[in-house]
Amino acid sequence: MLEDLARLGEQAMQKLEQVAELDELDNWRQQFTGKKGALTMLLRGIGKLPRELRPEAGQVANEIRQSLDEAYEIASARIRQAALANNLASGAIDVHLPGRPQSVGHVHLLNRTLREVYDIFGRMGFQVFRSREVEDDETNFQMLNIPPHHPARDMWSTFYMTNPRVLLRTHTSPGQIHAMREYNPEPFRVILPGKTYRYEQVTMRSEQTFTQVEGLAIGHNITMADLKGVLENFARQLFGQERKMRFRASYFPFTEPGAEADIDCMLCNGKGCPVCKYTGWLEILGSGMVHPVVLRNGGYDPDEYSGFAFGMGIERICMLKNGITDIRYFFSGDVRFLQQF
Ligand code: FA5
Repeated sequence: MLEDLARLGEQAMQKLEQVAELDELDNWRQQFTGKKGALTMLLRGIGKLPRELRPEAGQVANEIRQSLDEAYEIASARIRQAALANNLASGAIDVHLPGRPQSVGHVHLLNRTLREVYDIFGRMGFQVFRSREVEDDETNFQMLNIPPHHPARDMWSTFYMTNPRVLLRTHTSPGQIHAMREYNPEPFRVILPGKTYRYEQVTMRSEQTFTQVEGLAIGHNITMADLKGVLENFARQLFGQERKMRFRASYFPFTEPGAEADIDCMLCNGKGCPVCKYTGWLEILGSGMVHPVVLRNGGYDPDEYSGFAFGMGIERICMLKNGITDIRYFFSGDVRFLQQF
C-alpha cells in the first residue's frame, strides 16, 4: 500500500508539470484527487488493511494528498498568470480602458413619497403606528362595523388564506382597532402606513397590491372641520398651494358621516384624460368621523370621545405628483422607470 501511494504521488506530480491549460488541470484533478480519483480510491482501501498498518498508511496518504493539493494551487496560479500575460501581449485586455462604472441604487419613488407624507403629518403631531398585513376577518371587517354577509364587503374583494378567518388586509383601517386598543384611554393621533391587498382587476389606476396610509385622531370634541383642515393642509404641502381639493359625501361602514376627497388631475390639469376617466378629478382618499360602534370596539366611549379617520392610496398620490400615467410601473421592476426618479 505504501509503495502504491508513493508511486501514485510521483506519477501525479509528473503529470501536473506538463499541464498547460485550465481544462487539462480539471482533468488532472478528476484523475487523481477528485471524488473518484485514484488517490481517493486508495484512501478508501486503507480501512481494509490490517489494523496495525492503518495509522502509517493513513499518515502517508494524507501527506501525499496535502502536497498534491498545494501543487494543484501552484499550477492553477501558473496557468492563469500565463493566460493573462498572453491576453495582454495579444491586446485582448487593454489596461488603458477606464473601469466599468458601478451602478448605484437609490430610494424607490414610493418610499420617497411615503417619507414626505410622514414628514407632513409628523409636523401636525401624528406618530407612525405599524400594523400587521395578515389580519383576521374580525379586525379587517367585523370590528369595523362590517358583519359577515354585509353587502359592504363587496367594496373590498379579499384574498383569503386557506383558513377563511385569516386574510391579507384589504385596507389599513383594521390598524385603527389595534391603535385604539394600544393608546386607550388617551387621546392620540397616528398614521398607519403599509401594503394592502385586493383581489381586483389590474388596470392603469388599480393594482392588487398597493400602499395606503391611514390616519386616525381620537380625542375630545374632534369634528369634521378638524378632518377637513388636516387634509387640506396635507394636500397643499404635498401638491402645492395652487392644487384644488374637493370632498364628496360617501359611505364607509366604519364612519359616520363619510367622505371621499379628490384632487384636480395634474396630468391633464383638470381637462379630462384616461387616468381621471375624463372627469378632471382623481380620488385619493376615503375619510370620515369614526363610527360610534368602531370607537366602542376600540375601547373608547362614544359619548365622551370622537375622532376622524382617513385612508389614502400612495401610488395614486405618486402618480399625480410625478405625472405617471400607469400604476403598473411601480412593481414592474423596470429600471428605466425607476431611474427617472
Ligand atoms: C378604504 O380603503 C378605506 N379603508 C379608507 C378609509 C379609511 C375611509 C378611514 C374612511 C376612513 P377605498 O377602498 O376607497 O377606502 O381606498 C382608499 C384609497 O386607496 C383610494 O382612494 C385609492 O387612492 C386607493 N386605492 C383603492 N383601491 C386601489 C387599488 N386597487 N389600487 C391602487 N390604489 C387603490
